[in-house]
Amino acid sequence: MLQEKVLYILEKNRGKVITGGEISRQLGVSRNAVWKAINSLKQNGNNIESLPNKGYRLAVDSDGLCKQIIQEMLTTEKLGSRIQLLETIDSTNTYLKQQDLSNMQEGFVVLADEQTGGRGRLNRFFFSPKHSGVYLSVLLKPNLPPEKSRLLTICAAVAVSNALHKVCGVISQIKWVNDIFVGGKKICGILTEASLSAEMQSLDYVIVGIGINTGEIPEEIEDIATSVLEVTGEKGFRNKLVAEILNQLEEVYFAYLLSGKESEILSAYSEKLIYINEKVLVKMYDETFAATVLGIDDTGSLIVKNDEGQVLHINTGEIYRKSQIDL
Ligand code: BTN
Repeated sequence: MLQEKVLYILEKNRGKVITGGEISRQLGVSRNAVWKAINSLKQNGNNIESLPNKGYRLAVDSDGLCKQIIQEMLTTEKLGSRIQLLETIDSTNTYLKQQDLSNMQEGFVVLADEQTGGRGRLNRFFFSPKHSGVYLSVLLKPNLPPEKSRLLTICAAVAVSNALHKVCGVISQIKWVNDIFVGGKKICGILTEASLSAEMQSLDYVIVGIGINTGEIPEEIEDIATSVLEVTGEKGFRNKLVAEILNQLEEVYFAYLLSGKESEILSAYSEKLIYINEKVLVKMYDETFAATVLGIDDTGSLIVKNDEGQVLHINTGEIYRKSQIDL
């Protein structure tokens, strides 16, 4: 599509002026076609300045998604070898599940600029406004028994936390099992959905859905949620974040999980675990009880000690800081 090609040229010259004539020459299309593509790109949230008699400039903090730029930054063999970029979709996880996954290669990625029905764990809504987040789903086909699927969420959490640090300089923590926190507020959620083989002996496929807030946070959720923009004061990281998440995920997934080095991932996860030795509320099914967080075990279950002194390994439900239980 012409828009994508124009955005790619602007991305390559980010912060610099490039003439309409130069773009049209590089792409072999008319200046009018370039002008139209630029207008559509502007409407799609790209911050492009039109400088009379000079040309166009993509602002340094412009945050439009560009598939080609992402793919150029990938160091992966499998993850992201095919990326489908959608302007808007109900949920990238739902969309991916609806495809013919038996014929699809591991590592296929669906990325959206907006989700109208973003889903979180426990059927919660995941707020996914336009141009303001990274919303992606990755297809994995691991040769693992079903009980190990939780380890994929653990891999993804480590990958996202590493990527946030490498790309944005943001230090994050992980709230068991699937949330990434910065300064006590949620910046990212992960939704892992697995499908079992017909004999239920192995995983057929797993979809790892990752949602990171990168833009403005609305007032209604500002007490519990944060974003890359809030933490760093900056925009313009989305393409780099997508690429780095895939780079990091490929490393933890192939080099560690599928190579039997689970302990390395679990210790990376443990180092980032929030609320260690703190009192939390554990919510499981209909039951809520106070407990102290001790760590995670080698299956990725959370180890807590309740007020009666019993040590429990939790593999479902959620934990909350006491003050968050009513939110
Ligand atoms: C949670 O907060 O419990 C998990 C949120 C996961 C959100 C991501 S955004 C991309 C993918 N598509 C979805 O509908 N959900 C995940």
